[in-house]
Amino acid sequence: MKLFIDTADIAEIRRAKDLGILDGVTTNPTLVRKIGRPYREVLSEVAKEVDGPVSAEVISIDYEGMVREARELAKIRDNINVKIPLIEDGLRAVRTLKSEGISTNVTLCFNSIQALMAAKSGATYISPFIGRIDDIGAEGMEVVEEIAAIYANYGFETEIIVASIRNPLHIKHAALIGADIATIPFDVFQKIIKHPLTDIGLAKFLEDYKKIPK
Ligand code: G3P
Repeated sequence: MKLFIDTADIAEIRRAKDLGILDGVTTNPTLVRKIGRPYREVLSEVAKEVDGPVSAEVISIDYEGMVREARELAKIRDNINVKIPLIEDGLRAVRTLKSEGISTNVTLCFNSIQALMAAKSGATYISPFIGRIDDIGAEGMEVVEEIAAIYANYGFETEIIVASIRNPLHIKHAALIGADIATIPFDVFQKIIKHPLTDIGLAKFLEDYKKIPK
């Protein structure tokens, strides 16, 4: 399973990179806004920081605008894939971009039929937003299960990025389902490493070490 970090913050990306487990980065306009600097400047900095794929989102919502923006974003660095919203013009744009060799991450996916459409259009990645589905009282992980089953049934190569992850259980379930990628916010990255029994056990070992005769 590949692990991406869902952030535009270079310090957070470096911390995850230093763990040696970082496979890529996803961003969106909300995450870039938190940095407080120009959009493309931040994306360029992020793309230079990592070797793996980096998702950069278009702002246009019409076909021509999305394709134009995607071509510009893809030029920033060759590890950039373009995040396209799961709307009709978006799927048209995905088809065009695929024919030009530009990778896409179809975003704001909330059910498995939308994901089927994205795969048929030629999306490189599909991003179901699990936390936001849970937020409205539905089961985000059921959507991931369905997408995985549908993609396996028909041999689609579109990779599933489990997104809008809010807690470690989301990651465990994504891994059990066999999702290709989980994109994880920094605070959850920290939570998945930490365990109180590890800290208690470590403190006890250090305490006992001090009592060993020198
Ligand atoms: O990758 C998508 C993610 O950034 C959305 O997360 O927490 O805003 O639903 P959230």
